[in-house]
Amino acid sequence: MNEKQTVPKEFDRVSRSYDLLSALNPGYSEHLERSARRMELAPGAKILDLCCGTGLSTAALRRAYPDATITGMDASEGMLESAREKSDLSDVEWLLGDAMDPGAFGAAGRYDGILMAYGIRNVPEPDLCLERLRGLLVDGGTLCLHEYSVRGSLWSRMVWNVVTLGIVIPLGLIFARTTKIFRYLRRSVLAFDSVDALEARLRKAGFTDVRTEPMGGWQRGIVHSFLASKPS
Ligand SMILES: C[S@@+](CC[C@H](N)C(=O)[O-])C[C@H]1O[C@@H](n2cnc3c(N)ncnc32)[C@H](O)[C@@H]1O
Repeated sequence: MNEKQTVPKEFDRVSRSYDLLSALNPGYSEHLERSARRMELAPGAKILDLCCGTGLSTAALRRAYPDATITGMDASEGMLESAREKSDLSDVEWLLGDAMDPGAFGAAGRYDGILMAYGIRNVPEPDLCLERLRGLLVDGGTLCLHEYSVRGSLWSRMVWNVVTLGIVIPLGLIFARTTKIFRYLRRSVLAFDSVDALEARLRKAGFTDVRTEPMGGWQRGIVHSFLASKPS
């Protein structure tokens, strides 16, 4: 089995400590909200939060678009259970499903925007996934991949190694009593696309107006908003 196919099961194991660990990561929620706002969706937009996890990215979308209709999808039952418990997100439609084919798991109709935060790196076939996401958008709709990319920058790779080896993995051991998913996180980010490569992937999947915007703080050069449009 491809390692990526086991990722949701590993998230099940850390779902109860996920929000606490994210709160210890400076800027985590603010950065998600920045990506959400960068999508510049109109009032009343219909939005899919793919790989929504415990709903932290969904909450960022809700803050940016108070009257949007939002669907959150994730393949981890544990993460979704935590999302469902959030009373401020009680109007969100939660779906258990695989990001490789959201349409097959009830993500129906066309979306004005799709946010995929820390998701595309984890799917087994990113090119096919992106093509399917384009198919789920309205013409002119916006995709935002909020994702790590450190390839091509020695400095970013060094910061990433220091932060994951020195902070993230030890905190995972203390609070989640496992290091597996955090070691995977370190490895998968180091192996993931450079900014140029992910932009090329988006264009190859039929998106236009592809652009990358940075985050601030220690995540500058590490986390980015990759924005792209479905041609009208
Ligand atoms: C790092 S969490 C991010 C959660 C949320 N978007 C956030 O920003 O806090 C990644 C999520 O992707 C989910 N995931 C990984 N592979 C998936 C797949 N193939 N289909 C759906 N969800 C997946 C995991 O279960 C996990 O909840």
